[in-house]
Amino acid sequence: MAMQLNGVWCLHGQNGCQRMKHGKNVIRAVTSFQNNNAISEGKVKLGGSDLEVTQLGIGAWSWGDTSYWNNFQWDDRKLKAAKEAFNTSLDTGINFIDTAEVYGSSLSLGAINSETLLGRFIKERKQKDPTLEVVVATKFAALPWRLGRESVVKALKDSLDRLGLSSVELYQLHWPGVWGNEGYIDGLGDAVEKGLVKAVGVSNYSEKRLRSAYQQLKKRGIPLASNQVNYSLIYRLPEENGVKATCDELGISLIAYSPIGQGSLTGKYTPENPPSGPRGRIYTPEYLAQLQPLVKRVVLNWLIAQKNVVPIPGAKNGEQAAEFAGALGWQLSNEEIEEMRSLAKAIKPIIGFPVEKF
Ligand SMILES: NC(=O)c1ccc[n+]([C@@H]2O[C@H](COP(=O)([O-])OP(=O)(O)OC[C@H]3O[C@@H](n4cnc5c(N)ncnc54)[C@H](OP(=O)(O)O)[C@@H]3O)[C@@H](O)[C@H]2O)c1
Repeated sequence: MAMQLNGVWCLHGQNGCQRMKHGKNVIRAVTSFQNNNAISEGKVKLGGSDLEVTQLGIGAWSWGDTSYWNNFQWDDRKLKAAKEAFNTSLDTGINFIDTAEVYGSSLSLGAINSETLLGRFIKERKQKDPTLEVVVATKFAALPWRLGRESVVKALKDSLDRLGLSSVELYQLHWPGVWGNEGYIDGLGDAVEKGLVKAVGVSNYSEKRLRSAYQQLKKRGIPLASNQVNYSLIYRLPEENGVKATCDELGISLIAYSPIGQGSLTGKYTPENPPSGPRGRIYTPEYLAQLQPLVKRVVLNWLIAQKNVVPIPGAKNGEQAAEFAGALGWQLSNEEIEEMRSLAKAIKPIIGFPVEKF
């Protein structure tokens, strides 16, 4: 079935296939891609670790957040929608969920911590299905007053309390620390040795930092499983700054965040209908006008086609989650991959997180 559809896809080109399959905008993903790390259909090994994840994960930043998402307000309707996003993901086979201790931070009025919500969703679902497996990734915030390796294990234990779990599958350093990183990386290693996590990763790491963290963990026999960075058709810095090549060279998975350009690549937003809130300052009508040739394209497939990439699009509701998952099993042709890249090259990239540049 997938092959047959794939043939149609290639024959008719991208927009033709989109119309044929759904008659509306789709953001399809590919699970059948021949990835070096592929271990079973739809799953990949995360870097050199033993951790298996779905080829696509779901980002939970918006769950409970009132600082960037949700028009600064969280309510029961949004909670119900986030729970549907979680449940729909699991129903469709995607069980890799990315959160962080700072998502839905209590410093923001009315917020509910994303880890707390995820923990509740897991607990409720497990009551119905005790065999349920959820692959949880969370992150340590390298806040300037947090020093040394002990701070990592302490923060992780607090995260586990919020999640209601005794361990998580992946623990990541959310961003590099301002005073140095050796202590934090030692802390990640300690977390593995204490059995609190299966695998460890970093985020927003440059090539230089990546190599150093990799070597430091290697001395303890622990693989650096992943580097989570901003990567999409409209933000291809990892291809230009050596991060993608270094991930490939060292066998570190690249987890791509904001893979659908925070919604801007979906066709939902247009110059006449830009996003509200903080996103509106990035995805301005002028920028959205430039983006139009790229929207309604299969941007997640494109990322997976770059190999060694696990995109984690954010889903706020069941419909969005279903759209990611309902797309599994497709593969772009080489011509389509290159066509999309050349269209993207004509568009000025958005501004990223400055720390990844050092
Ligand atoms: N490590 C880091 O520093 C870092 C930074 C950023 C993100 N992340 C992680 O990466 C995840 C994803 O990144 P992101 O949330 O920034 O951006 P994204 O995945 O590119 O965009 C997510 C947003 O796009 C919109 N959307 C989702 N599905 C859609 C669909 N089918 N049709 C139309 N719109 C759709 C939703 O917002 P609306 O419905 O409001 O439009 C959703 O919140 C986060 O949840 C987080 O886990 C990590």
